[in-house]
Amino acid sequence: AGKQVYYYNETDSTNIRAKQLGEEGAPHGTLAVADQQNAGRGRRGRGWESPKGCSIYMSILLRPEIPPVKAPMLTLVMALSVAEGLKESTELDVEIKWPNDIVLNGKKLVGILTEMSTEIDYINHVVIGVGINVNMTGLPKELSEKATSLRLETGRIVKRSPIIAAVMRSFEKNYSLFLETQDLEKMQEEYNSLLVNREKEVRILGAKEQYNAYALGVNKEGELLVRRGDGTTEAVFAGEVSVRGV
Ligand code: BTN
Repeated sequence: AGKQVYYYNETDSTNIRAKQLGEEGAPHGTLAVADQQNAGRGRRGRGWESPKGCSIYMSILLRPEIPPVKAPMLTLVMALSVAEGLKESTELDVEIKWPNDIVLNGKKLVGILTEMSTEIDYINHVVIGVGINVNMTGLPKELSEKATSLRLETGRIVKRSPIIAAVMRSFEKNYSLFLETQDLEKMQEEYNSLLVNREKEVRILGAKEQYNAYALGVNKEGELLVRRGDGTTEAVFAGEVSVRGV
């Protein structure tokens, strides 16, 4: 609330804009929102479909006074906030796919990309970018089986600004909860209650090994706890592994 919002009719990527605002000294909480992106970025070096007027492309600039190792948890704080904000503003049953995708009816609706600028042992700033597929009426063939939009799922045109407002309100609340303990302790239960992978068989795709396991939920560090076939429990890190339903 009361934070600066920069609005772009068209830009390269709101993550790039927010990062630049950060380098120019913009304060914590500054938000960059665009109607269209020409170089939308996804995770793992991929792009992000960003057609004009269809969706929400926004990035928030944060200046958290926390050790850099804790910053990845902020992505989960945002995932929870987007899920809450969407539930509140659309009344749809969105779920979180660990660590930070939001799915609706089993298909990806939201992507989150966190980028951090650190000095050796402190954070200069963090940018969390959120892409929500709102009014796209179709998706490229390679995406249409796995991804969706609010319009495709509801058959209705959905207004974007109430969603942005609800997500930001929720994030403000959850960010304060995060700062109290510098972990997800106060949000863990709620995050787990929205987790699509919870109590399901998942396939862990790690750099060194791949295996099936039973997902229990996240711990307060945001790691996914899984039980392996031999009965041992393991905590898997976001970033190190990706998880697939089986
Ligand atoms: C993913 O691959 O799942 C993450 C996608 C993140 C897309 C959003 S759209 C707003 C912000 N600006 C970008 O260039 N990327 C993020």
